[in-house]
Amino acid sequence: MAAKINDVSAHHHMNYQEIFDRRGQMYHEAMLHWPDARQQEFTLPLSLLNLQPGDYLVDLPSGGGYLQRYLADEINLHCLESSQVFADYCQQHGFSVSLFHEHNLPLADGSVDKLLSIAGIHHIVDKQPLFNEIHRVIRPDGLLCIADVETGSAVAGFLDDVVDRYSETGHRGYFLDHNTLQALAEAGFCQLKQQRLHYQWQFPDEEALLRYCWLLFGLEKARLGDVKAGLQQYLNIESPPEGGARLEWQLLCFTACR
Ligand SMILES: C[S@@+](CC[C@H](N)C(=O)[O-])C[C@H]1O[C@@H](n2cnc3c(N)ncnc32)[C@H](O)[C@@H]1O
Repeated sequence: MAAKINDVSAHHHMNYQEIFDRRGQMYHEAMLHWPDARQQEFTLPLSLLNLQPGDYLVDLPSGGGYLQRYLADEINLHCLESSQVFADYCQQHGFSVSLFHEHNLPLADGSVDKLLSIAGIHHIVDKQPLFNEIHRVIRPDGLLCIADVETGSAVAGFLDDVVDRYSETGHRGYFLDHNTLQALAEAGFCQLKQQRLHYQWQFPDEEALLRYCWLLFGLEKARLGDVKAGLQQYLNIESPPEGGARLEWQLLCFTACR
């Protein structure tokens, strides 16, 4: 069911899960239409995991398994998702997937070589149980990389203001900062490092950029002009002379060893 801009009539009586599932549908549609818009958001954190042939890599939360396109065949990817809609998309694409709850990862002790988490755990209020579980499932000397929205950043402002205003679900993030380092240390991780990743989302033109953000963030109460104004309030949109359109983006990245 393709989402039409400003089609508000379609979901007046949806409950929270249905609205969240619809967000999942719209998010997936954005990722299918422009699969490489966020390429750097995947490849930069991946480059910090020193992937080796045969590695068992877990993506948590995976969404629809978008990481797979950036992996060599010798990497064994397993997707963990909290949303049935996203888990279904992983299955439809033949990706290995299971549902998880932050207090309980469906994986054996020390069974994972590398674990990556991109732009998902800012939805979780108390991250300590999840970090403890991640520490349990990663093998000794295994690696963790978390890239997510930083407290007080322009991206955090955009999500908790513009996405909160124009999406049906609203947005309230529990973003990452120095407390995250402490929580990872408390879970038992060592060699903790933190760095900001600055990069751009890339599009063939500005309309694609705006439609992508409308879908990705479920901005059903917005017109494309509202999306543009909201983005520019917090972030830079560039239209280089050689063509295309770019949106600056930034995540805070933590790496750690088990
Ligand atoms: C922005 S998407 C990121 C998905 C994927 N990592 C990516 O980069 O495209 C947010 C993800 O967080 C998950 N999520 C939302 N709320 C959650 C929660 N309370 N607990 C765990 N995961 C949650 C969603 O299912 C979704 O996969």
